Amino acid sequence: MAANFGNKFIKLYNGNLMPSVGLGTYQLVGDEVRQVVDKAIYLGYRHIDTAHSYNNEGEIGDIVKSRIGTGAIKRGDVFLTTKVPSVCHDPCDVVDCVELSRTQLDTKYLDLVLIHNPWTLKRNEKSNSTESIQFVRYNIQKTWRSLETCVKEGSIKSIGLSNFTTGQIQSILDGCSIKPANVQLECHAYLQQRKLYGFCQTTDITLTAYSPLGAHGRPERHRFEDQPVLLDDPELDSIARSHNKTKAQILLGWLLQRGFCVVPKSKSEQRLIENLDIFNIKLNRREWTQIQTMDKGIRYFKFKNMTGHPEFRPTEDF
Ligand SMILES: NC(=O)c1ccc[n+]([C@@H]2O[C@H](COP(=O)([O-])OP(=O)(O)OC[C@H]3O[C@@H](n4cnc5c(N)ncnc54)[C@H](OP(=O)(O)O)[C@@H]3O)[C@@H](O)[C@H]2O)c1
Repeated sequence: MAANFGNKFIKLYNGNLMPSVGLGTYQLVGDEVRQVVDKAIYLGYRHIDTAHSYNNEGEIGDIVKSRIGTGAIKRGDVFLTTKVPSVCHDPCDVVDCVELSRTQLDTKYLDLVLIHNPWTLKRNEKSNSTESIQFVRYNIQKTWRSLETCVKEGSIKSIGLSNFTTGQIQSILDGCSIKPANVQLECHAYLQQRKLYGFCQTTDITLTAYSPLGAHGRPERHRFEDQPVLLDDPELDSIARSHNKTKAQILLGWLLQRGFCVVPKSKSEQRLIENLDIFNIKLNRREWTQIQTMDKGIRYFKFKNMTGHPEFRPTEDF
């Protein structure tokens, strides 16, 4: 894993620094995302994780711009991550999508752009219904090459992948001229992703854990009856007590100690403060082992609607 700067930043192999705690913004839209991002920047968040599909880049752009306008921050202080959706894998769509993200986020350059998913989809032009989306077999290296061009032209600083398996990452590595700098994946105490972690360590690719708190506010379509709530796990009680921290802070601190970047989402000021107050957590060997034993292979985002897509590989390790 890349060097960790007093654990507040993670250094990507290309030298760029990524703040190790970012603000997740999935499911935050409109005025709510404006308020949350504004508050988060005020509280000290310097990394914002969004995606084309979150429909909130414009609002985030407005707030970042106004905070820069007041002199509270400079553009270089804030790290903006966004993602190219599955319906935009064609090179011309990638370029349009990156340009749209740059316009909406009101920035000359994007710090990190990820391919959101390895599976390519085609939207039925005549309908907005998600049922009308078609599975497409596609050479994702073409998508990657367009992102490489954006890096060479200066509109993106770093590029990476999300929801890719080790095999899919390897195939990008085999054909790339610019290596992925970061992989974003679901990772938390119930889904520790040891195989992908080991793979990314040996290839010097940094990792970002999404849903680090177990995504208990996720949409209905991603809920399944047999799934326990990570934040309710009593295993974390004694560790939290002994560090005088909350269970959420222990979960995030453990990921930081593993060398991950984390992007917890919260719309509450109190929890935004809490999620940023984790840099001094150092778990001892016993606590570390205790959390290791919590791994249950529970994936909260199962993407079941992708079943049958050739690039959807739930039996691998994505
Ligand atoms: N690449 C991908 O495919 C992908 C997929 C999913 C997510 N992501 C990214 O990862 C981010 C985080 O994941 P997520 O939003 O799924 O889930 P998460 O951050 O694990 O959990 C968010 C939930 O936890 C609550 N929460 C936040 N801080 C808390 C605390 N300190 N104590 C107790 N509860 C707390 C939030 O409620 P309140 O808001 O009420 O505080 C919300 O319901 C997303 O926002 C997105 O940016 C990426």
